[in-house]
Amino acid sequence: MSISDVELGTTRLTPNYRIDLRNPGNEQLDRFINANLVSDWSQLTWKTVGKPYEVKTMAKSKQEWEQQNGHMSVKTSWEFFNRSFHEWFVKDVPEELSEAKKKLYKHLARFQVHEVKEALGETARLSLWNYAHRIQDGIWDPRGKRALFQGLDIRKPRILFLGAAEGYEAMQLHAMYPEGEVVMVDYDDFCRTDRFGHFPDSYPFLGANPATGQSQVWHKSQMNIHYLVDDIRNLPFGKEFDIVLSVGLLEHFPDEFKPEVMDWHRKFLKPGGYAVMTTPRVQLRSRLFYTIMADVMNHTYRELMDVRQMGLYVYESGFDILRHGYIKVHNGIVAKPR
Ligand SMILES: C[S@@+](CC[C@H](N)C(=O)[O-])C[C@H]1O[C@@H](n2cnc3c(N)ncnc32)[C@H](O)[C@@H]1O
Repeated sequence: MSISDVELGTTRLTPNYRIDLRNPGNEQLDRFINANLVSDWSQLTWKTVGKPYEVKTMAKSKQEWEQQNGHMSVKTSWEFFNRSFHEWFVKDVPEELSEAKKKLYKHLARFQVHEVKEALGETARLSLWNYAHRIQDGIWDPRGKRALFQGLDIRKPRILFLGAAEGYEAMQLHAMYPEGEVVMVDYDDFCRTDRFGHFPDSYPFLGANPATGQSQVWHKSQMNIHYLVDDIRNLPFGKEFDIVLSVGLLEHFPDEFKPEVMDWHRKFLKPGGYAVMTTPRVQLRSRLFYTIMADVMNHTYRELMDVRQMGLYVYESGFDILRHGYIKVHNGIVAKPR
């Protein structure tokens, strides 16, 4: 029995992240809420729900690059984002936080105003990251994701993950339907080599044992995953996937491109297949998060929306919505092409 099996039903912190092997079905968990805000999507209008909130603060590194080189392409922007965001997942957070505070006190004692400002910023970012990612587990949110993914009527799904980055959600999905296979797609090779490549194999994904139906922990190296470095618009696939998944993709496209993005979720699906999507929620704490973390994360166009706005994009692009709701910091939708 591996250590992870012993830990089923428990949660604990490591220096980089939280391990959470509690099921979303247990009481007192902030489980995925089947929001049921909308019973008839055909009756909902943009006038009622309004448009998403656009995050406008851009990362300093992008602004400086553009001053030197002119407009940064979307792909280059993602390359900046992925390198910058990845650094945060590999941090020993308590250690770095304690170093940042030491620095702050040193500069304070010497009245070094500029250095104090920098150290304050770093301490604020690290404290927020510690809270949002490590303590709250808001970014990976395994319980919320499990609740969103559970109960799909499928045994051995072929899963396509669009804009896969480190691939977290497809690995969670695969753990729950472990007889299937995953194709991850991202056009930034750094995602394959580093974000996914260095994703810790020790991280336990709570899923199922297909032989017994009992809970079982899965690790990256046990999974059937192919990582493809390509532009989603070039993919050679036909309608061959049971699930097309995206996490934080739709909100990076202004409205005129959203129908095309939704089409990516339809064109590779077998008849009866599922589109499973999440986008960040528009809530005060998310706005605060993206403001404080702007230099780390804001290299691309980004919106925050509520689940009714997200659902309306999905519905108007020709999908029926089977499930919609909130997980910790994202909206989640499971849909099928009409
Ligand atoms: C799905 S998101 C993840 C964003 C993150 N969750 C956030 O909150 O900002 C972005 C990923 O999609 C990839 N991507 C964006 N457009 C793409 C395209 N046309 N083809 C392939 N990958 C793309 C980017 O390289 C990036 O790794």
